Amino acid sequence: MDKESVVGVASDHGGYELKEEIYQYLLDQGYQVVNLGCFDESSVDYPDYALKLGESLKEGEIDRGILVCGTGIGISIAANKIPGIRAAQCHDIYTAQMAREHNDANVLALGGRITGKNTSLRIVDIFMSTKFGEGRHKKRVEKISEIEQKYKKS
Ligand code: RB5
Repeated sequence: MDKESVVGVASDHGGYELKEEIYQYLLDQGYQVVNLGCFDESSVDYPDYALKLGESLKEGEIDRGILVCGTGIGISIAANKIPGIRAAQCHDIYTAQMAREHNDANVLALGGRITGKNTSLRIVDIFMSTKFGEGRHKKRVEKISEIEQKYKKS
């Protein structure tokens, strides 16, 4: 992603510390970054922050998002309920690369209690720099959108 792109970051309390590290890291890299909270370690509910970031992406206020909760599980499940959001929970460089190349993930989910800072920042690098592979993967990602359409409330 070019440095003109806007990245959103959000977390619950379980991901707060890592989210702040990522926020600062992306700023240092020259990205425009929007910090959507939370802003301290007080207990909050991860779906609220998944929704905040997901809606911001849908509105076009951000181009890509990074979510962090304790495990990365709850916040990715919640984000993936929003049509058009493809949140990928990644634990390593390979899953981050595949999430972009094969799945065109627009949101990265990390576990602040699972993945250490250095690995997380490498995952962020890969997530930000890897392009979607298009080709055969495009058809498959389009099928995800078709599932969303099928279950959309009329
Ligand atoms: C909060 O304690 C924890 O449940 C949350 O951060 C996350 O791990 C949920 O999936």
